[in-house]
Amino acid sequence: MVIFGASGDLTKRKLMPALYSLHRENRIKGDYRVMGVSRTAYTDETFQAYIRQELEKFIPAEEQDAALMDEFVTHLHYESMEMGEGALSHYENLKARLQDLAGSKELDNLLFYLATPPSLYSQIPVNLKETGLNVKNARIIVEKPFGYNLESAQELNEIYRAAFREDQIYRIDHFLGKETAQNILAFRFANGIFEPLWNRNYIDYVEITAVENLGIENRGGFYDGTGALRDMVQNHLIQLVALTAMEPPAIFDADSFRNEVVKVYDSLIPLKDNEFDDHVVRGQYVANGDKKGYREEKGVAADSRTETYIAMKIGFGNWRWSGVPFYIRTGKQMPTKVTEIVVHFKPTPNQMFQCTEGACPTANKLILRIQPNEGTVLKFGMKVPGSGFNIKQVEMDFTYDRLGGTKVGDAYSRLIEDCILGDQTLFTRSDAVESSWKYFDPVIKHFDETPKFPLYGYPAGTWGPRESEDLMNIDNASWTNPCKNLTNTDQYCEL
Ligand code: BG6
Repeated sequence: MVIFGASGDLTKRKLMPALYSLHRENRIKGDYRVMGVSRTAYTDETFQAYIRQELEKFIPAEEQDAALMDEFVTHLHYESMEMGEGALSHYENLKARLQDLAGSKELDNLLFYLATPPSLYSQIPVNLKETGLNVKNARIIVEKPFGYNLESAQELNEIYRAAFREDQIYRIDHFLGKETAQNILAFRFANGIFEPLWNRNYIDYVEITAVENLGIENRGGFYDGTGALRDMVQNHLIQLVALTAMEPPAIFDADSFRNEVVKVYDSLIPLKDNEFDDHVVRGQYVANGDKKGYREEKGVAADSRTETYIAMKIGFGNWRWSGVPFYIRTGKQMPTKVTEIVVHFKPTPNQMFQCTEGACPTANKLILRIQPNEGTVLKFGMKVPGSGFNIKQVEMDFTYDRLGGTKVGDAYSRLIEDCILGDQTLFTRSDAVESSWKYFDPVIKHFDETPKFPLYGYPAGTWGPRESEDLMNIDNASWTNPCKNLTNTDQYCEL
């Protein structure tokens, strides 16, 4: 395995812990080798020492086994090199090192992982092809964002297709590697009782939230040119939309599943020019107490108009979902970290029970909690014991913890293992990337071409701009703000 961008954040935080976990559980067979590639001047030894140290920070304490970690890092190697245009001689050196390690001129079983800044995504496959490293059974994993807009995504697809076959290209979106995201499929399609209700006849609206209580950390340089829409919405959030809205595939294999995903994206109704104002709200966090504002972050322009928060109302032109709004939102520096899907069912056609003592019969709600407190909650009305008919909403709450001993696996190790096994189900196909960009491209263009389109400031540590409430309130809907893990107790949340 060759990791491009080996000195970066993703490698130490996610990829190495994931590989260690696969190693620990004996899920990589044979004598594998990992070649880290970056510009930083490490040797094999100093790279191993660096990773050994970082593992201690990013692997849960209960999984740390000092002897095993020492042994794991002996599988690591390092090549300091340029990766972009004009670096062919560096790729020749890389090839020679790989041949050395393989003990053969004929390389096979190569897996490339692109964990570099996105600006290098277009050049690396060209260089791999030029040096003949794109061998027949090589696979290549590319991080998101895949493309910067529709046009660049189409160009990237062309570049990848010129060097690899589609069955060698793994466009990774780690949200699909999350157990609980996959469980949306099991919940919907392994049970007979929900699917008959899962449509416009019974569902009023759907909310999808993926918010974080951290800022952009040390990623200012990357984030300022990217923004929340490209970083989270065009990929992670829209994948969750697909899992929630898709039709059941007839069989569960990579093609059938991914065909259904594309159909969801193709059915998104494009926003018209006069619809952006009441369908899209974007925000940027500003200083609040001891929390810095976005424009004060390292690597961010002092007059940056990059959004760190975005909420959107999206709709579908298909039979199942016509007229049912999906509200999606993501943001940095929110009061808590939570990813969840809330399905709001329609109220009963006639409500014969009255509100009493503050308790009102309310519509049913189903919450699919992706993280944290992974699980599923169904909210429904029950009679409060005693005289009269007072109805109170109660919860049926399943949490993964209750499976006892079953650990919710890590997304990256699952996806790297799938790639090793040649299973593309949980990776994004080229047509899906393009179809999703087709929907978001006009939104990005609108941001670029309409300087007056509002960017609201919101105090760091709050639930985002007030206008994001208006986006829903106008439809008699409102965001569900979970209370669990709330760091700032002044913030409103749903009790
Ligand atoms: C990444 C984004 O893809 O996902 C980050 O680039 C974001 O900005 C992260 O913080 C969120 O992932 P998770 O798994 O921590 O919810």
